[in-house]
Amino acid sequence: MRTAIYPGSFDPVTLGHWDLIQRAAKLVDRLVVAVLHNPSKTSAFSVEERVAMLKELTGPLAHVEITSFHGLLVDFAKSQNAQVIVRGVRAFSDFEYEFQMALMNRKLAPELETVFLMPKEKYSAVSSRFVREIGGMGGNLSDLVPEVLRPGIERKLAKG
Ligand code: PNS
Repeated sequence: MRTAIYPGSFDPVTLGHWDLIQRAAKLVDRLVVAVLHNPSKTSAFSVEERVAMLKELTGPLAHVEITSFHGLLVDFAKSQNAQVIVRGVRAFSDFEYEFQMALMNRKLAPELETVFLMPKEKYSAVSSRFVREIGGMGGNLSDLVPEVLRPGIERKLAKG
């Protein structure tokens, strides 16, 4: 059974994340999308809200699980019997951080492989940070977040 972990902040989930989930889901028997509990980072959406949004989105995909995790990603991956960590790379600017993180994770757990996937090019500039900024100023989030989640995300971000 091939299991991959797709970890991230997902604050909130974007169309780029959704594109990546669907690509990764085709490659493995079990995909675990994992939201990091990060007490040192303030977030717009609670971990519970982010997990609920991801669950709503991925409901029809039976082999995709949504959960959250604390601590080191490699420890969580091992606890899930995963062999693969999936990360998205949108542009060259993502590369350095992702490369360093992959190498550090390999140092911590050489048996885990990090695999990079590219979302559709039209999502190259889509990020949770821009979604939060645009949504916080009352902007329209069509084409940035999944349509089914858009009203809830816009409402919450507009409230501040
Ligand atoms: O969506 P993000 O914020 O880019 O995701 C970053 C994430 C969650 C993948 C990364 O911060 C992470 O794995 N954190 C867990 C702690 C950890 O394992 N740190 C060592 C990484 S080298």
